[in-house]
Amino acid sequence: MRRNIVVGNWKMNNTIAESIELATAIAEKVGAAKPDCEVGIAPTFPALHEVGKALEWSGVKLAAQNCHYENDGAFTGEVSTRMLAAAGCSYVILGHSERRQLFGETNEVVNRKVKKALAEGLRVILCVGETLDERERGVTEEIVTAQVAEGLADVSDITELVIAYEPVWAIGTGKTASKEQAQEVHASIRGTIERLYDEQAAKHLRIQYGGSVKPGNAAELFGMPDIDGGLIGGASLKVDDFMAIVEAAG
Ligand code: PGA
Repeated sequence: MRRNIVVGNWKMNNTIAESIELATAIAEKVGAAKPDCEVGIAPTFPALHEVGKALEWSGVKLAAQNCHYENDGAFTGEVSTRMLAAAGCSYVILGHSERRQLFGETNEVVNRKVKKALAEGLRVILCVGETLDERERGVTEEIVTAQVAEGLADVSDITELVIAYEPVWAIGTGKTASKEQAQEVHASIRGTIERLYDEQAAKHLRIQYGGSVKPGNAAELFGMPDIDGGLIGGASLKVDDFMAIVEAAG
């Protein structure tokens, strides 16, 4: 059986002090609720180390929102996987649509990052998803299949990988994909993984849904057969909303 995974993607929000406060509140509530799902949070780079320390006693995992594909060197403004691992991260989110759209990340760049992060011993949350225009043109499956296949080129072992399906039109817009729309794409991703790897890999892969997940829609989404938890943006910044979503997942 796949264990659901819920990760809060804090994006560019919260100072170090605010991050510690929110992380501590989440860790305490997760500790008390003991949900039957994996829980993680992804603060900004400057807060990672301190938040990691605040989470140490808890089972809540620390995730980064991005990384570079080299170990070190002349890459102004970038952070390497080696640094993230040393800061206490166990996960890194890669290929988020905001990175793809605002910072020009291609499937090829995402693939280099995925390979580097896995080689460093980090677990990867690989984000994929179509824009509104792509959905309206009927090319959702084609786009998502290419993001998965090209993002995983030359990756032989996906044991430490999670995929997050996040339709771009649903991120931060308040528009959630219906549970049927999401399930259809999740099933297609699982089929792609079966073709690229094998049946076992497809069966074990966890596929999160992301895009305006809220306390009111989490349970119905997570109840679908191929949806294994969520990647949560806006709602992960409020302890009670995030916890309601965590509890819906486990
Ligand atoms: P949202 O963001 O929950 O605010 O829509 C999700 C994400 O971007 O991961």
